[in-house]
Amino acid sequence: MKILVIGGTGLIGSKLVKILARRGHDAIAASPATGVNTITGEGLAEALDGVDVVVDVANSPSFEDRAVLEFFETSGRNLLAAEAAAGVRHHVALSVVGTHRLAESGYFRGKIAQEKLIEAAGIPYTIVHSTQFFEFLGGIVQSGAVGQEVRLSPAYVQPIASDDVALAMADATLAPPVNGIIEIAGPERVRLAALVQRYLLKSGDGRKVMADGQARYFGALLEDDTLVPGPGPRLGETGFETWFSRSNART
Ligand SMILES: NC(=O)c1ccc[n+]([C@@H]2O[C@H](COP(=O)([O-])OP(=O)(O)OC[C@H]3O[C@@H](n4cnc5c(N)ncnc54)[C@H](OP(=O)(O)O)[C@@H]3O)[C@@H](O)[C@H]2O)c1
Repeated sequence: MKILVIGGTGLIGSKLVKILARRGHDAIAASPATGVNTITGEGLAEALDGVDVVVDVANSPSFEDRAVLEFFETSGRNLLAAEAAAGVRHHVALSVVGTHRLAESGYFRGKIAQEKLIEAAGIPYTIVHSTQFFEFLGGIVQSGAVGQEVRLSPAYVQPIASDDVALAMADATLAPPVNGIIEIAGPERVRLAALVQRYLLKSGDGRKVMADGQARYFGALLEDDTLVPGPGPRLGETGFETWFSRSNART
């Protein structure tokens, strides 16, 4: 199959392109760095020529509320219109577990807009909802950092390694469209504040994490189970300790 990976130079996209190629497919990385821009439309129609499946793992370069919404709305509109014109048979996108419970957050309003466009486009689709990537723990530290303290919610998380996300995305890409959502998560459910404290300690970072039920997660208040999947998610096999020992994790 010919598969176009939008955001194919990113963390998940670059791993996904390699997995699909190893499985014998013609997988192409598309992003501004390769001359394909879903915001300006540059290179999009040409890149979609003869493509069977599109996977969208792009992300907004800015996490500022308005910029994220504009990115996912404009990118989604341009991409889905170009796919319809090119006769693409399956649109696969990566989003986040709990997205629809997180509308207080500007970032997640962007993801909700992206998913609505996909559902309305009339192209068969699969939306994969992943929990937080272990690789994103540094970003979570930054989001809660106030001086020498990191203030974070004690809500549950079930983070996943990006390698396991890419494998799940490859399987979803090669399977028939589900016209709905698949959930994926890591093997262990832990409290966010406690996990980040372990991460800082292992990274040799002396900052203390304060568990605070009122601390917002990218603008949203969390209930205990806001960020964890419902029953029966696909589970990645890599736990935190294994991921950390394999990574060069530093805050
Ligand atoms: N972080 C998490 O914990 C988490 C959890 C669940 C789901 N997700 C979702 O996972 C997805 C991928 O995340 P990631 O961390 O792999 O992203 P990333 O490493 O930041 O990569 C973003 C990709 O988007 C591309 N891109 C940016 N602007 C573009 C444009 N105008 N047109 C086409 N491509 C563009 C970038 O291309 P260039 O390299 O050319 O700039 C890059 O390839 C996101 O949609 C995110 O919402 C993330």
